[in-house]
Amino acid sequence: SYAPPPAKKLLSWYAAHRRHLPWRSAPGAPADPYHVWLSEIMLQQTVVATVAPYYAKFLAAYPTVESLSAAPVESVLGMWAGLGYYARARNLHACARAVAGLGGFPRSIEGLRALPGIGPYTANAIAAIAFSLPALPVDGNIERVAARIFAIATPLPGGKKAIATAAECFMEDKAARAAPGDFAQALFDLGATICAPQSPGCGRCPWERHCAARAQGIAAALPVRGPK
Ligand code: ADE
Repeated sequence: SYAPPPAKKLLSWYAAHRRHLPWRSAPGAPADPYHVWLSEIMLQQTVVATVAPYYAKFLAAYPTVESLSAAPVESVLGMWAGLGYYARARNLHACARAVAGLGGFPRSIEGLRALPGIGPYTANAIAAIAFSLPALPVDGNIERVAARIFAIATPLPGGKKAIATAAECFMEDKAARAAPGDFAQALFDLGATICAPQSPGCGRCPWERHCAARAQGIAAALPVRGPK
């Protein structure tokens, strides 16, 4: 296992530089699980800029998970038009019905995982961001940050497991476990705005002095893409 970089430095950077996205609560404030779930499902195969107007439109039409659950599936599919991957919209509606039946979102990873359309990533995102449970939703951004921090050069896709396991080490810092929602969102923002796939802005990174790839001058080359 790897020594985690200091979560406090990342959290301070996030407080100053975080993106003000429509589904976000103020730092340290609890987020609504419905808002987190809806945004995370939309963000799965779609970029932030495309998601934002759809997210606003959905919340205006369906302000609560109960109102979404009560809508005809055709209306939900119509409102989803343009976002693609329509199985997501069908699962969204099925999940809303299940959650309404339960009287709210389950407050555990296992309970969340049992819902339609919720895999390990989405369960961890809701657990961390809405319920402050010490979980890390590892997406491509967080994988890239981890591959660089720990200088993991194992080519993808084979290296994916090793990189995801290394990313879990981030949670060994107790400041990360104390603010898991802010920590995960700070990593999304770091990956999107500084630790970008091409020409990373290492000079602006709060973890510059804790990054093995930066020390070796190989940040831009990681993660390594292997044969398909
Ligand atoms: N990508 C996936 N989830 C995200 C979030 N909550 N904020 C920004 N980018 C994301």
